[in-house]
Amino acid sequence: MADLESILEEKRVFKPSAEFSKKANWNKATAKAMRELGEKSPQRFWAKMAKENITWMKPWKKVLDWKAPNAKWFLGGKLNVSHNCLDRHIEGEGSWRKNKAAIIWEGEPGDTRTITYGQLHREVCKFSNVLKQQGVKKGDRVVLYMPMIPELAVAMLACTRIGAIHSIIFGGFSATSISDRVNDAGAKIIVTADGGFRRGKPFGLKSIVNEALESAPGVKRVIVAKRTAQRVSMQVGRDLWWDDLMAEASANCPPAEMDAEDPLFILYTSGTTGKPKGILHTTGGYLTQATTTSKYVFDLKDDDIYWCTADIGWVTGHSYVVYGILANGATTVMYEGAPNSPAEDRFWDIIERHRITIFYTAPTAIRTFIRWGDEHIKKHDLSSLRLLGTVGEPINPEAWTWYQKVIGGGRCPIVDTWWQTETGGIMITSLPGSVNTKPGSATLPFPGICADTVNEAGESVSGKTGGLLVIKKPWPGMLRGIWGDKKRFRETYWDKFKKQGFYLAGDGAHRDRQGYFWIMGRIDDVMNVSGHRIGTMEVESALVSHAKVAEAAVVGRPDAITGTAVVAFVTLKGGLEGDNSLRDALRKHVAKEIGSFAKPADIRFSNALPKTRSGKIMRRLLRNIAEGVDVVGDTTTLEDPSIIAKLQQPETR
Ligand code: PRX
Repeated sequence: MADLESILEEKRVFKPSAEFSKKANWNKATAKAMRELGEKSPQRFWAKMAKENITWMKPWKKVLDWKAPNAKWFLGGKLNVSHNCLDRHIEGEGSWRKNKAAIIWEGEPGDTRTITYGQLHREVCKFSNVLKQQGVKKGDRVVLYMPMIPELAVAMLACTRIGAIHSIIFGGFSATSISDRVNDAGAKIIVTADGGFRRGKPFGLKSIVNEALESAPGVKRVIVAKRTAQRVSMQVGRDLWWDDLMAEASANCPPAEMDAEDPLFILYTSGTTGKPKGILHTTGGYLTQATTTSKYVFDLKDDDIYWCTADIGWVTGHSYVVYGILANGATTVMYEGAPNSPAEDRFWDIIERHRITIFYTAPTAIRTFIRWGDEHIKKHDLSSLRLLGTVGEPINPEAWTWYQKVIGGGRCPIVDTWWQTETGGIMITSLPGSVNTKPGSATLPFPGICADTVNEAGESVSGKTGGLLVIKKPWPGMLRGIWGDKKRFRETYWDKFKKQGFYLAGDGAHRDRQGYFWIMGRIDDVMNVSGHRIGTMEVESALVSHAKVAEAAVVGRPDAITGTAVVAFVTLKGGLEGDNSLRDALRKHVAKEIGSFAKPADIRFSNALPKTRSGKIMRRLLRNIAEGVDVVGDTTTLEDPSIIAKLQQPETR
């Protein structure tokens, strides 16, 4: 509530400059017209966008078929994603882009590559043929587990070219996480690399894949790109080098004609159970939304150099490093490594050297830069920047104003973009040429998106009363399901407001008098750590899989840098005592089971956890304890009220 009050008191309003507005892809008048069209008829709005922004091989017959929770967009329409991202920029009207940079890539050690649209097209065609030769067919799942190197974008686009469904696994995930995802998707092939560079050191990926494959026998092929030249073990008959295959491959591969509703990719994300959900996206609707939002939210122009710092392994990288940006024929920057390698000014150095004009990053990164100090920024000329964006978590007004002033030099509009893996593309955001911004608010729904905050009964609420964030009408980039789990899809997103047919986002939010959205964070057992979703249940099941752990409860605690920090309460088996070496062992264990990014910041041992008489862990109490605040609310249902005092005692910390 304190947060809510402080944000509600935020009165500052920032207006886009007249000059920015005049040149914006949507100026004030067009934005108003688009908003009106989107309100009157989302279908007509999205059909207009699909026509203007996407090249179709065959036109659709019907815009939308909606029987909640199942949507089909652009029925009968045929297209190919790689054709939209590549071919149309090198042939016909767009052919002048053939020698334009599609990707400017920078490795952490300082090596750079600029890949033109013509070159990228050729690489993608070749890798499409490689995949075909390896027996990959339309609808097959291809797992990509790679560092941030151009080969990752090539592999993604090649999958879309031949109609294979990619499932990208972020390079920070562990062997167990890989085998779970590979098995769930039924993938027979993995594309990986020997490793990558991070904070000045090479790390291994192929070695982790080798370990994962011990529990994923369905995988018959592993293609390995060379990045670090570290020694890796290759299994004869199963593992092949990227370079060897590419050397033999033909550069001629016409794009497959895909149906608008053919699956495009699966991306696993955390939910409220221990098992991640394979979020399924399809072709026409997803591409329409990714491309349209890229064009109008980032105001992409042909002379822009756009940089989104997200890893492609997360949805932000899918939609706004690769698909939405390349579909617009823009130049996308990809950086391999850490923001503090070799020093804390690496990002500003990249912006200065590449003359970056649009910069999209996460609030957690912004808070880290603030902590590192302005001196790293002052060393560099950031005058090329004209637009800034944020994504992934709520941004506190202080970080917002610092971003606006210190990075944006007071001249760049900020787009705070709210969306999710499930939504495929940006849903709530300002439009940089026409919407006044307020620090900490994602502002208004994108045209054609019907978002609201509602109470438990599904009635709209506004003002100080927060509510559940819902999307009331289908949108083109929406998830089409959870891979292999129709029931979970319905239960997670649709059952809550079944009668109304609303999508439940899982976030709390409230709206102010101007209808601006203020996102308050997750309302379920999902934590948002540095903008990454981690399920409390996932960490709990990782902990209890350790031989010494009897029971674990995990909660999030507010953290000034990462937004949320993971706090674990652990009870040990048969009288074992917890100490620092066990804490380290448990952290390592979580890293092994999920990935380093999910490691608890704080582990507290106790001989019992607070439970109701029916055996349910009272997380609300644990959250209070984790935050170090007084335990508030009703504790009368506790089985053993003395536990609270025990957990609060210093020696249990
Ligand atoms: O809680 C919201 C938060 O991130 C969640 C979605 O996480 P993920 O699927 O990993 O996608 C992140 C990148 C799109 C949301 O449910 N979130 C995302 N963007 C914002 C945000 N919270 C506040 N403001 C945002 N701009």
